[in-house]
Amino acid sequence: MVVSPILRIENLHVLYGKVPAVCGINLTIQPGKIVSVIGPNGAGKSSALNAVMGVQPPTASVDGGVWLEGVPVDRLTVESRVRSGLSLVPERRELFGTMTVMENLVLGGQSRKKVAKAHWLDELDFVFQLFPRLKERVDQLAATMSGGERQMLALGRALMAKPKVLMLDEPSLGLAPLVVQEVLNAVAKLRDAGVSILLVEQNARAALQISDYAYVVEGGRVSLEGDAPQLATDERVIQAYLGVGGMRKEPSAA
Ligand SMILES: Nc1ncnc2c1ncn2[C@@H]1O[C@H](COP(=O)(O)OP(=O)(O)OP(=O)(O)O)[C@@H](O)[C@H]1O
Ligand SMILES: [Mg+2]
Repeated sequence: MVVSPILRIENLHVLYGKVPAVCGINLTIQPGKIVSVIGPNGAGKSSALNAVMGVQPPTASVDGGVWLEGVPVDRLTVESRVRSGLSLVPERRELFGTMTVMENLVLGGQSRKKVAKAHWLDELDFVFQLFPRLKERVDQLAATMSGGERQMLALGRALMAKPKVLMLDEPSLGLAPLVVQEVLNAVAKLRDAGVSILLVEQNARAALQISDYAYVVEGGRVSLEGDAPQLATDERVIQAYLGVGGMRKEPSAA
């Protein structure tokens, strides 16, 4: 059976002035899957995600097609993309530090609040089930939370918009290994709840463990792609991103 992709990115280009950062990336996500993008610093991963969401800086020029459930969204405003079901948790988590956990979550749900409050409350329940720690801290200011808690709040806020496709830019950045596992477990649970996920990660090992499919992006181009378990045993991926011993051994401390 042929299933149509929930997200399709075709020939995506991003230029900063005249300097290319993304040079013709093609990528698809099948419904209910986690697709990860790994690659070195400066490869163009964040540039690609931002361009798909429509949040690139004014100095950037973007070209290429993005389809959500077969509908082109690349000409839409960011707000319309959110309403269509696309959500991004950016590399800088961009929470409102002087607002409480609850206020941040309510803001995330705003595109839906007008639509149906009952569903919006369902979403809040869902976020609290996924991250009970947020429920215990509804009145705490976002700025005073730990790194891991802030990442949970950023994820929770994005979920309040009930996205069909959730894009996560390095959710494990700066987190301790145990917290990385907690956040990525939550990402896997989201997939199990039917959210399709595009995950950009430096932590290739952890990303491949929860992903269904993966792309390696180098110098703005896809250099390798395949089923995640298969990529995890690819000699080039092991050498460059997993260290000796592939998925079985922890990387040596640098
Ligand atoms: N606003 C900008 N203006 C100019 N150049 C930029 C801008 N943002 C990113 N770049 C450049 O584009 C290239 C790709 O950057 P990008 O942030 O997309 O990489 P990345 O793969 O996300 O890297 P990292 O893993 O370090 O987050 C880099 O050379 C970067 O310096
Ligand atoms: Mg980045």
